[in-house]
Amino acid sequence: APISAPDFTECGPSDKPDGSTIDCCPPITKTIIDFKLPDRGPLRIRRAAQDLEKDPVYLAKYKKAIALMRALPDDDPRSMAQQAMVHCSYCDGGYPQAGSDLEIQVHFCWLFYPFHRWYLYFYEKIMGELIGDPTFALPFWNWDAPAGMYIPKIFTDPTSSLYDQYRNSAHQPPKLLDLNYGGTDDDVDDATRVKENLTTMYQQMVSKASSHRLFYGEPYSAGDDPSPGAGNIESIPHNNIHLWTGDPNQTNGEDMGAFYSAGRDPLFYSHHSNVDRMWSIYKDLLGGTDIDKTDWLDTEFLFYDEKKNLVRVKVRDSLDTRKLGYVYDNKVPIPWLEAKP
Ligand code: C2O
Repeated sequence: APISAPDFTECGPSDKPDGSTIDCCPPITKTIIDFKLPDRGPLRIRRAAQDLEKDPVYLAKYKKAIALMRALPDDDPRSMAQQAMVHCSYCDGGYPQAGSDLEIQVHFCWLFYPFHRWYLYFYEKIMGELIGDPTFALPFWNWDAPAGMYIPKIFTDPTSSLYDQYRNSAHQPPKLLDLNYGGTDDDVDDATRVKENLTTMYQQMVSKASSHRLFYGEPYSAGDDPSPGAGNIESIPHNNIHLWTGDPNQTNGEDMGAFYSAGRDPLFYSHHSNVDRMWSIYKDLLGGTDIDKTDWLDTEFLFYDEKKNLVRVKVRDSLDTRKLGYVYDNKVPIPWLEAKP
């Protein structure tokens, strides 16, 4: 059977990597609404963060949305604090599976892509609501192309709402991202690094993605132990980018280096926007298909929407981004498609 939506009244402490715990439980609401696909309006177009450096109008909206989100009271489910806690509770053992002691864990399994797609969907809608612009789209950190292989500059201005102080100070732009980063910086010239990164992308997306299990991750149904195994992109480079971005001087590599704190950094959502884009590329350009098992399709999650309604969603409604009202800018180059080693 599929994993059903968590019961918020059963939420308990979440675990931090250092062994301590943190309360990440969401506000409790009695009424739960079942998600309905929105009516088709204009599509929200998610663009590359690097391209937005030159778009002051868009940038002003984005900064305003995050500033407003940060300014909401901490118990408003749309606040930055609560948005970060969504990740914490779904990822660090905050929820038990229905009728069981086993925890719900959305990583290291086939729920990785759909859970994060839904999470960003609501985050994006909340931003649009706060600035009164339903066409507002979350940018993506296009770390898969050379132009995006550093922290996008729009996130590094300390006076901006997009800034987060807990990042690795040695990894500020133009320091090149290492998609295979394991915790230490090695001495590789930039041209070599770019080549390695593109090879990694080709392997993870194409040559090593020959099955649903390899691309999406291992099956995870009700009654299963958590973390049966991650898909390619989740393992590399998704995890490496978290580690590369977080501050190594914090106990748990906060913010980006730990599940419980990653969502406190606005960059997290653009990182995941590109992860989500990889899922779209897999299906639109590489001939990838959806998993057809109902244990995947009928897995449920709960999120608060832009009107503070608590909404129950299923994986099956996340499969087509157009139905959710957004697409990725298809003019952004995808050089790794040609990077067969
Ligand atoms: Cu839910 Cu990038 O992790």
